[in-house]
Amino acid sequence: MILKVARLGHPVIRTPAVPVDPGQIGTPEFQRLLDDMVETMREYSGVGLAGPQVHLSLQVAVLEVDQHPRYPDMPPVPLTFLINPQVTVLDVSTVEDWEGCLSIPEMRGTVPRFKQLRVTALGRKGESLDFVASDFHARVIQHETDHLKGEVYLDRMPNLGTLSHLAEWQRFVLAPPARK
Ligand code: NI
Repeated sequence: MILKVARLGHPVIRTPAVPVDPGQIGTPEFQRLLDDMVETMREYSGVGLAGPQVHLSLQVAVLEVDQHPRYPDMPPVPLTFLINPQVTVLDVSTVEDWEGCLSIPEMRGTVPRFKQLRVTALGRKGESLDFVASDFHARVIQHETDHLKGEVYLDRMPNLGTLSHLAEWQRFVLAPPARK
């Protein structure tokens, strides 16, 4: 089922999410929620979706990058479920790149993100995950785990100078030959 996406201004977007009870992960209801989040992310061409974005103040996020139309040059990220994720920054150097958000439709802005992270979380079956993510993968995880803290990418922009409406961004940033 495709879920309704909460946009910036809905209080749930600004509310820190609570941890998922690990005992709940295996229930049919929670498993259906995970399926619905994946379906919703794919329907709206997102590379990630966090619980608060579907009106659920729970520490759960899904991510997937697979030949994405918005990010055709980006390396693929397999479908990943992050429940109660904890992030440690391994490389504090930052990379600036464009981001958008399903909860802030039709906008893009450049956001500095840490280059490399260690991520621990529970996976779809409640199993322990522990991995290192770099570059674009690390960017997506920082974006989604920010949502779990009630934060959005606008909060991470040192200034709003690059904030762009999607149509203008496509015209002036994405359009060849301006794009590198
Ligand atoms: Ni977002």
